[in-house]
Amino acid sequence: SQPSADELLELAVRVARGAADTARRMRAEGVSAVATKSTVTDVVTAADRAVEMQVIAALREVRPDDAVLGEEYGAAAGGVASGPGSVRWILDPIDGTVNYLYGLPQYAVSLAAEVDGVVVAGVVRNAATGDEWTATRGGGAWRDGRRLAGSTETDLGQALVATGFGYDPARRSHQAGVVAGLIAHVRDIRRFGAAALDLCLAAEGRVDAYYEKGLNAWDQAAGGLVATEAGLVFSGLDGAPPGPDLVIAAPPALFAPLHERLAKLDAAGGP
Ligand code: IPD
Repeated sequence: SQPSADELLELAVRVARGAADTARRMRAEGVSAVATKSTVTDVVTAADRAVEMQVIAALREVRPDDAVLGEEYGAAAGGVASGPGSVRWILDPIDGTVNYLYGLPQYAVSLAAEVDGVVVAGVVRNAATGDEWTATRGGGAWRDGRRLAGSTETDLGQALVATGFGYDPARRSHQAGVVAGLIAHVRDIRRFGAAALDLCLAAEGRVDAYYEKGLNAWDQAAGGLVATEAGLVFSGLDGAPPGPDLVIAAPPALFAPLHERLAKLDAAGGP
């Protein structure tokens, strides 16, 4: 029978906690970059790979037929979701890999479950601090038993806005230009280094809004549901769905002015 979003979340949380324990333990044992991916700054550590394998194995044990899309092994992580009711897991084993490498406590396991292509459950767990955010579609966004509702700020000029940068140098230059055009119109800008956590911080109202160009599905699947379920508008530019061109997560009152500013600055453009 088809699993409920709550059942999928329960499994996701259990698996993400085990994964976070492994990431933290491997960090304590010492960590170094083992390879680079898209560019020289896009690193992967042994822990990224070990955590991804652990999560895949743990999911397989309970749900052997599900597909898994993981950051490190891609769709090769496992299976193909097909047929009605099919489940695909979307995993970032360590979001915030550069923070992880430097021992900065802002890295997370991000795990979402999609049913028929729609994300229905997600968990983001900060592996360094144990902070954990969860959401199910229609069931709200939660942290430590507290339901999340985002920021009540309505003035973009008073808003603390988080963002992030890709790994490609040309893209980074364009993104820096967007920041240069935005910073005089907001309270301040934050770049914490883990997109999944940025989305959860926006869901919690610990930043007022977040935007970024160039995210992959695993960066935003779980955090995007948390933001949406906290009542934020989670969208791309001009009504496009949130995707690689741009994601914006903002409370309804901040969304329009932020969107307008980002459109003027061509935040979805460039390389
Ligand atoms: C990165 C982080 C970073 C964001 C990048 C992502 P990774 O993910 O989320 O904050 O700005 O766009 O690629 O490589 O640490 O898993």
